Amino acid sequence: MSLSVIVPCYNERANIAPMVAALDAALKGLEWEVVFVDDDSPDGTAQQARALAAKDRRVRCIRRVGRRGLSSAVIEGALSSSADYVAVIDGDMQHDETRLPAMLQAVAGGADLAIGSRHVEGGDATGLASPMRVKLSDAGIRLAQLLAKAPVHDPMSGFFLLRRSLFEQLASRLTGQGFKILLDLMLASPRRLAIVEVPYKFRPRAAGESKLDALVLVQFAGLLIDKILRGTVPLRFISFALVGGFGVLVNVVILELARHGGLSFGKAQTLGTIVAMIANFQLNNQLTYRAQRLKGPRAWRGLVIFLLVCGLGAVANIGIARALYAENESGLLASAAGAAIGVVWNYAVSATLVWRVR
Ligand code: GDD
Ligand code: MN
Repeated sequence: MSLSVIVPCYNERANIAPMVAALDAALKGLEWEVVFVDDDSPDGTAQQARALAAKDRRVRCIRRVGRRGLSSAVIEGALSSSADYVAVIDGDMQHDETRLPAMLQAVAGGADLAIGSRHVEGGDATGLASPMRVKLSDAGIRLAQLLAKAPVHDPMSGFFLLRRSLFEQLASRLTGQGFKILLDLMLASPRRLAIVEVPYKFRPRAAGESKLDALVLVQFAGLLIDKILRGTVPLRFISFALVGGFGVLVNVVILELARHGGLSFGKAQTLGTIVAMIANFQLNNQLTYRAQRLKGPRAWRGLVIFLLVCGLGAVANIGIARALYAENESGLLASAAGAAIGVVWNYAVSATLVWRVR
């Protein structure tokens, strides 16, 4: 009976050695390995994992470069395993590794999935830092339960265990976006999974800091939208289009303010457009392309290219709207068609030229 423990980690250097020691104590008598999946953390997490791996063949490390993301890290770690079972656990000691044998027993005994749960009898979520986090977490859980169609108390848990064969089966249907890998797995399954929840106490973080901020909640909304649309429209496009819609708002507000300030319509509109494009670049860089976020000089370079691409997009938008308007005089239709073609152009070209999405 062999188990791969997948540990996504980002800036967890100080937690690597304690994690291995804790697993060693918790998994006595079992055949196991641990796979740290690090996204090239600046603090040297991967070096630390490799230093341990050099002395202990049960320790492995995957270092991903140029990418970020909790879900995709977990997927790649799990797919690197050849064990019978895979478990996923946070790398910051907040999850209780001593519950792993009980989770393994549940799955070996016939369950599809064992989930470490803070929200069943005996579980405890006091390790969640702020009341705000608790509220957000509760709201997310309720929403997730609606979609997962499974009576799971802690669908947002990052602590679970399943047969590797099941993971392999579901892998190609995962979105891999954001940080809700468990929910992603449950939604990917065509059949209802037999789930066992194993209570545990969420510990406070010993070292380092949480990486999950308000932006990941936006990503969570994205995952839900993606599920509702059943993957027919790429998530990135939805995000890009929403940001674009927000840009239109910025444009109008600036235009009005500038005209009140005495600027001519032409100048005010130019100013509004430029401010909107800069705001859009910033938002897309933070949200849509969070995983490929440009920083420093590369962000400035990206901004310039983005302005050029969207400038061309605006010209195309106006040209198409004019041509259609000349043909059938429906202003709304012409303007909508122009905007639609503009956003598709901006999306397609900026993805490859600005954010270099592979
Ligand atoms: N490779 C990789 N890439 N690992 C990451 C990334 C990433 O982009 N972001 C976070 N991690 C790792 C962290 O290093 C940590 O080991 C684990 O993923 C969880 O991240 P935390 O930043 O510690 O999350 P949290 O404690 O705030 O959130 C907890 O509660 C959530 C539900 O509210 C975790 O238990 C989550 O798994 C859970 O979904
Ligand atoms: Mn944590």
